[in-house]
Amino acid sequence: MRVLGIESSCDETGVALVEVQGAGVPVLLAEALYSQIEMHQAYGGVVPELASRDHIRRVLPLTEQVLASSGRTLADVDVVAFTRGPGLAGALLVGAGVACALGAALNKPVLGVHHLEGHLLSPFLSADPPEFPFVALLVSGGHTQLMRVDGVGRYTLLGETIDDAAGEAFDKSAKLLGLGYPGGPALSRLAEQGDPAAFKLPRPLVHSGNLDFSFAGLKTAVMVQAKKLGLAQDCAVTDLPAQVLADLAASTQAAIVEVLVKKSLAALNQAGLKRLVVAGGVGANRKLREQLNSECARRQVRVHYPELHLCTDNGAMIAMAAAMRLQSGQQTASEVYAFDVKPRWPLDSL
Ligand code: KG4
Ligand code: ZN
Repeated sequence: MRVLGIESSCDETGVALVEVQGAGVPVLLAEALYSQIEMHQAYGGVVPELASRDHIRRVLPLTEQVLASSGRTLADVDVVAFTRGPGLAGALLVGAGVACALGAALNKPVLGVHHLEGHLLSPFLSADPPEFPFVALLVSGGHTQLMRVDGVGRYTLLGETIDDAAGEAFDKSAKLLGLGYPGGPALSRLAEQGDPAAFKLPRPLVHSGNLDFSFAGLKTAVMVQAKKLGLAQDCAVTDLPAQVLADLAASTQAAIVEVLVKKSLAALNQAGLKRLVVAGGVGANRKLREQLNSECARRQVRVHYPELHLCTDNGAMIAMAAAMRLQSGQQTASEVYAFDVKPRWPLDSL
């Protein structure tokens, strides 16, 4: 069985084809991605209407590219999967509309996939796939969650952010430091030249006794530190000397990473598990990987990550999640082509 996956929930159009061979881990045959980042950069963030229009432009050429590079045709596709939510409503409707149109035209069933389930299962596309059960740290631009994962579709929420997501904290702090959109990769690059201990920034909820996160105060804390340096009222943080900006970036990254690492270890303890899966865009962060690797090694915990290029949004994770749901019998694909997207959709409601 071959599953075509379409991702269009935010600012990346992704298409991929995976093949299910018996009970084994599904195999990725081909993938293609178009990132809209450059288009949104001029606005400092994602403009939903522009995102939707661009998905329309990209999705069919990407589909043709995937079929050509896998040496297949549309006739070889058995199921068409798409991201049903959460995400931007208009952007989701593009992927859902195209998937349903393809399904109807080919007389093949369709399957709507949860975007976060795609992230969660993306490490199964790596050379070292995890085994169930595990604790998952989902860290994207919109979500920060710790889940206990006992199998496909068996997700228990252990804790989540009560305000901003970790990716949002990276993006908002980066904006303050005059770095472009999305800020995560830029901030972590600048942090390489800074001292992570230069500024005392809060580690919100680190001793809260539960597994929830809070990142909304971090941006204000960065501002407060900048003012303490004697920044004049009418000056921007970006007017600070380059080394100070690098120190602020390093200190911000250190605060976010420390909280993510400590809460992940606490979640493993609470769940009594020795396996951690990290997924979502922030999972590409080098400092986070370094610290998780060393802390987990000390505790004999195995850590699994998606391939670096599959940390951020892509079609492969959507095709993979659909394939694994079908394979596990969690769901059957549908021949009702009702593209009802779910812009808000809690993962533990699956
Ligand atoms: O998973 P993703 O592509 O999109 C969502 O589903 O939200 O994650 C995007 C987020 C952005 O906030 C981006 O700044 C962050 O992931 N990100 C990073 C890095 N690469 C991407 N944050 C920190 N360090 C990185 N290297
Ligand atoms: Zn995502």
